[in-house]
Amino acid sequence: MTYQKILVITTLFVTFAVLPAESQDHQSIQNGIYSAAQANQGSKLFASVCSECHQEDEFSSAGYMDSWTGAPVAEFMDLIQMTMPEDNPGSLRNAEYAAIIAYFFELNGIPMGDAEMDSDISALEDVVIEGPYVEGGR
Ligand code: HEC
Repeated sequence: MTYQKILVITTLFVTFAVLPAESQDHQSIQNGIYSAAQANQGSKLFASVCSECHQEDEFSSAGYMDSWTGAPVAEFMDLIQMTMPEDNPGSLRNAEYAAIIAYFFELNGIPMGDAEMDSDISALEDVVIEGPYVEGGR
């Protein structure tokens, strides 16, 4: 095979591997997936449980949400549940982790909606984290 043929085949392969995923319907965190009340609850939880080790601007600084762009919310929730609070991972209820994530979204200026974000992790597999983020958007 010539180099050019290999290049064409590789390009086609990559294009077809990427396109279907992009054209599939996905939900976005931009679609009003959490409520103001939920973010407010998250803010209180953050103050009582997380602020011992964290400051809110860590999670709204330039680059923090960017590091999660393209990932499903389920992955974000899973990581936080499995690792935080560092001295007692998994110690909060699912709904409490969801509330804290809603609060992080609020911190980044992600639009709110009327309904609460689902706290069932499997319901968040298809909800993609994506910008625009507004730093300190609260
Ligand atoms: C006892 C201290 C402590 C507490 C309490 C704590 N954390 Fe952390 N957290 C850490 C440390 C240390 C790191 C950095 C570890 C790392 O990145 O490997 C971290 C990292 C993180 C990260 C970054 C993960 C990433 O890579 O994006 C998130 C998000 C996070 N914590 C959320 C929380 C939340 C939410 C709470 C409250 C429910 C919380 N933490 C409570 C110590 C703590």
